Amino acid sequence: KPVLKVGILGLGTVGQGVLRLLKNNAEEIERRVGRKLQVSHVSARSAGKARDCDLSGIEVLSDAMQLATQADVDIIVETIGGISPARELIEVALTRGKPVVTANKALLAEHGNELFALARKQNLSIGFEAAVAGGIPVIKAIREGLAGNRIDKLAGIINGTCNYILTQMQSKGQSFADALADAQKLGYAEADPTFDIGGFDAAHKLTILASIAFGMPLNFAAVSVEGIQSVTAQDIEIAKVFGYRIKLLGIAKRGAGGVELRVHPTLIPESTLLAKVDGVLNSVVIRGNAVGEVGLYGRGAGGDATASAVVADLVDLARGFGGDVRHAVPALAFQPEAVQSLAI
Ligand code: HSE
Repeated sequence: KPVLKVGILGLGTVGQGVLRLLKNNAEEIERRVGRKLQVSHVSARSAGKARDCDLSGIEVLSDAMQLATQADVDIIVETIGGISPARELIEVALTRGKPVVTANKALLAEHGNELFALARKQNLSIGFEAAVAGGIPVIKAIREGLAGNRIDKLAGIINGTCNYILTQMQSKGQSFADALADAQKLGYAEADPTFDIGGFDAAHKLTILASIAFGMPLNFAAVSVEGIQSVTAQDIEIAKVFGYRIKLLGIAKRGAGGVELRVHPTLIPESTLLAKVDGVLNSVVIRGNAVGEVGLYGRGAGGDATASAVVADLVDLARGFGGDVRHAVPALAFQPEAVQSLAI
């Protein structure tokens, strides 16, 4: 089978992680899928910048659009983030017949319905395992592993920055501002950390999870969002006295009036699984009517963890899943659930 040529848009933390992973595990991956995955092109704003990855033999373009339209690239990996120009680049790539793998939760949560519709029209897939909970294969677990269940509820710690801040405040008595600064230094936070602490990043991820779990169109506007800005050291202390932890949770629940979607700081008993998830780690617990509760746990942010999920989607494509829409959100594939609007 011929070599699959991969083009990576963006050479930030995730893009560099994907490059490293494809190089370091090249033999393993080739043995697993029976063909080579080779990064042929990358796009980066500043081509000459020093980076923690080997660019030898790879063409570095400063024009992302040139890469998205490159005739000899088979798959486009988008790691730029944000809405524009990521959206236009993905649209162009799909229009040119290239399947896309992306880690872009904001883009999918807000414009995914149109992008998936375009992908379906083109009979191409958009892989997005990396968009939710970094390296934890939660999309594949819900979409494939739990496909026989009716999902009643899911709840998760899906923002590493917030979980890191709350953990540091709880265990080390660190101030909110210092903990946030540390999370930024460690490379966990979004470029604009308001997305993290305001709960919007978690809301983006919850929107995607709910779409997969409940078979409904992406509906970011329906998420009720409250961040962690007003959680104080005293709140955390008092919760502890009563045997509780405060965690920022994303919750999607089937109710009589439809699916309820919310993100907010939540008091949870310290004996529960989610209460024990500390630091930058993420965890998602899903309840299916046949299987009961399933819990996933792992690194939800960082270049290597997120690259693990991107490469899993590339492996799916290399195995031949790219020529169909198996990996698109099942939105509109069956009767969508109603969404219950919540006022908190
Ligand atoms: N800013 C995100 C987080 C990165 O802290 O979880 C991973 O999506």
